[in-house]
Amino acid sequence: MIYPIVKYGDPVLEKQAEPVTVFDDELKKLVEDMFESMYAAHGVGLAAPQIGISKHLAVIDVTFKEDPEAKLVLANPQILHVEGKQRGSEGCLSIPEFREEVTRGKKVTVRAQDVNGKWYEKTGEDLLARAFLHETDHLNGKLYISHISALKRDLIKRKIRKLVKAGEW
Ligand code: NI
Repeated sequence: MIYPIVKYGDPVLEKQAEPVTVFDDELKKLVEDMFESMYAAHGVGLAAPQIGISKHLAVIDVTFKEDPEAKLVLANPQILHVEGKQRGSEGCLSIPEFREEVTRGKKVTVRAQDVNGKWYEKTGEDLLARAFLHETDHLNGKLYISHISALKRDLIKRKIRKLVKAGEW
């Protein structure tokens, strides 16, 4: 099932999500649906709050279907280590049509549970490092625009308010 993506302005995006405690068939189905919804929206990462589900759960595939091994499920992820810096363009499915330069860590180690509840650690660089940080932020109610200047952030918010008024958001 493909879920519609929740857009900026919905409070679910800015609240702390609940931990995942049950790893059952329902969760497996949700994870499947999240991958499907992410691909349908042409994204490389999706957090559960972005489909209106306030759970500490995200999916990532920075290869966009090219490498099945690259499909990652992150339940209850914690960032363990951040090294170096990268600056690059970043967007979010919940803030469509906007992109901004964001400075992030270059090499990031995350600890998370897979779809069966098994804990694992993974280190990613470049785009994967960025995805780990971006998606983990989502689960803590934080959006990438919190990492840009107040001036740029206000400009985006103003443009979104106009789109909302026009019924285009
Ligand atoms: Ni996002």
